[in-house]
Amino acid sequence: MGKEIAIATSNIHKIRELEQVLSKCSIRLRQVDIPKIEIQSEDLQLVAINAAIAVYNILREPVIVEDAGLFVEALSGFPGSYSSYVFKTIGINGILRLLEGVEDRRAYFESVIALAHNRGVLCVRGRVYGSIATEPRGSGGFGFDPIFVPEGSTKTFAEMSLEEKNKYSHRGRAARELCRVVERVEIY
Ligand code: IMP
Repeated sequence: MGKEIAIATSNIHKIRELEQVLSKCSIRLRQVDIPKIEIQSEDLQLVAINAAIAVYNILREPVIVEDAGLFVEALSGFPGSYSSYVFKTIGINGILRLLEGVEDRRAYFESVIALAHNRGVLCVRGRVYGSIATEPRGSGGFGFDPIFVPEGSTKTFAEMSLEEKNKYSHRGRAARELCRVVERVEIY
């Protein structure tokens, strides 16, 4: 049987990546077209929890919201929770320009998954450390994938298959944690 959980996002890449992991613990995702209400905060967890509760109040059934961001050490964590806006504005090339001549290219991705359900809200997170490449490589994935190289690999996320990206990624880690938690919690 498994559990069906709604997911509020228009990002098909996120859904595919989450599905690959969550299907292993019998969670089926159903995309819903409810615009995510995003509060402005540097804290991904606050953004995800608020958005999940807002969607739950409309749907009245278990729903997931995932919020993620890229945190660059040399830029004091920028773009962080503003990654979506920064990707749309200055994009990959803008980040590369900001890091021109910068030796310390360490960065991490973080993903927070908030699940608002019939008995409350739960939240899991996943983080992956790595570095920003000096030029974009690869054509897979989305967002900043072409410039992020996770620790333990020489490939960017955009050079990996979805399965390989999930082994390393913030989202893969958060999804595996969600599997562990959902097994122990009643959500209906
Ligand atoms: P949001 O979670 O939809 O607010 O997206 C945050 C932004 O961070 C996205 O628009 C992407 O630019 C970036 N981002 C989040 N996760 C990833 C990822 O797995 N790969 C590449 N970029 C990502």
